[in-house]
Amino acid sequence: MAAKREEAGGVLEAGATMAALARDHLVQPWPTAGEIGAEARGGLVSGDGIYVIDGEGRKLIDGPAGMWCVNAGHRRPELADALRDQAMALSYNSPWYTTNEPSARLSTRLAGHAPGDLDHVFYTTGGSSAVETALRFMHFANNLKGRPEKKLIVSRQGGYHGSTYLSASLNGRPRDHDWMDSASDLVIKLTCPNPFRRPEAMGEAAFCDMLVDEFRTVIETMGAERIGAFIAEPIMASGGVIVPPDGYLVRMRQLCADNDILFIADEVVTAFGRLGHVFASQDVFGIAPDMITFAKGVTSGYFPLGGVMMSSKMLAELRQSNHPDAMFAHGLTYSSHPIGCAVALANLDILEDGLLDHARAVSAHFQASLKALEDLALVGEVRGLGLMACVECVADRVHNNPLALDLDVGKRIDRHCQELGLLVRPLINMCVMSPPLIISVAQIDAMTAILRTSIRRTMDELVRENLWRG
Ligand SMILES: Cc1ncc(COP(=O)(O)O)c(C=O)c1O
Repeated sequence: MAAKREEAGGVLEAGATMAALARDHLVQPWPTAGEIGAEARGGLVSGDGIYVIDGEGRKLIDGPAGMWCVNAGHRRPELADALRDQAMALSYNSPWYTTNEPSARLSTRLAGHAPGDLDHVFYTTGGSSAVETALRFMHFANNLKGRPEKKLIVSRQGGYHGSTYLSASLNGRPRDHDWMDSASDLVIKLTCPNPFRRPEAMGEAAFCDMLVDEFRTVIETMGAERIGAFIAEPIMASGGVIVPPDGYLVRMRQLCADNDILFIADEVVTAFGRLGHVFASQDVFGIAPDMITFAKGVTSGYFPLGGVMMSSKMLAELRQSNHPDAMFAHGLTYSSHPIGCAVALANLDILEDGLLDHARAVSAHFQASLKALEDLALVGEVRGLGLMACVECVADRVHNNPLALDLDVGKRIDRHCQELGLLVRPLINMCVMSPPLIISVAQIDAMTAILRTSIRRTMDELVRENLWRG
């Protein structure tokens, strides 16, 4: 057995072999049909702090912190110990019949951080299942309240909420739906609140008015009695780090409150320090949502866990309804997983013991140093908040037009960055940066310098290939 493991370890050490094994036997997420089940993605073998080591032995800054999740950084002994200790104490318990201490303690601590009366938690396995839970809960609650027609969900173009059927139905990025079915009869999509792509000659305040008016019109047209929830990422993450216009979230929240529509803040990315706070809704944007979904950074990605913060008032209403036997028929084998919750507790210790302060302290430098890239001719806009940012490349900067050429730009930049020691997350023509929150000022400068050189190399390459005039 040991010999077999050693042999396997030896094989995996070779990055090329790892990629080949994966290509032959692994179905990777988000593949194209032409590559499905036969794709050799670059392998990573280890991580330490803000760095990962790839299959070729290169040390790379983990620009996206995995997928916006390794907030406390790689190889944290506190998190590894929590994981191991809990596995040795109680590795699993059925949440159907029993409870465990880490989930009870974690809920209490999260309640202390969440805004308003969001003092209960339903745990899930990740972000999609958290969003799914919030929506199914809204449907259940409206059934109980005797308004079974109040089920529609309003989301936004450009948003991303997950890959399960209902959560994916909310997604609004173009390629999310090209070849996929969805529960489209349940979902209404509003305009993406992206100031960079607002109509020409329209100021940001007028753009904000337009967005709010659009929601008001939808409510009037469809009827508030049919709309159950509005869901929004406070900052759209994988849609390209879209920071909405000033006042937008407060006004959308107010419209929801005025029309008895639940406001669900999808904080899968923005919570657990990415914007310098455990939850960003209240502390950064001044809103108290009716539910908050979270995942990713709650365990810094060391264990799959997500959840929904729920309001004590809403739960009390259900307890006092006329249907005490009605069942919220929803739960996951791994709801309230003791190991996930134990890791989340250790992760929360790290955040509270200085990491949130650190994230807030370095974020201005992070934003300013990336913003300086706007002097490069290929860069249309750099935007962001806290420790999340997006460098959007636009080949036709004068008309702010994304051209066909843009499709390749992110990948080209990523290739150069990897040669120089940085992993980026290319999204078509955008590079999204969301490093581990432990990143230092010097490391931010190193990251930005690599990005600058890589964009310059990409520009030279495009000119050489006669694809762009500069
Ligand atoms: C805002 C947001 N919501 C939900 C999800 C889905 O989370 P998961 O992939 O953990 O299911 C994501 C994933 O990137 C996300 O960014």
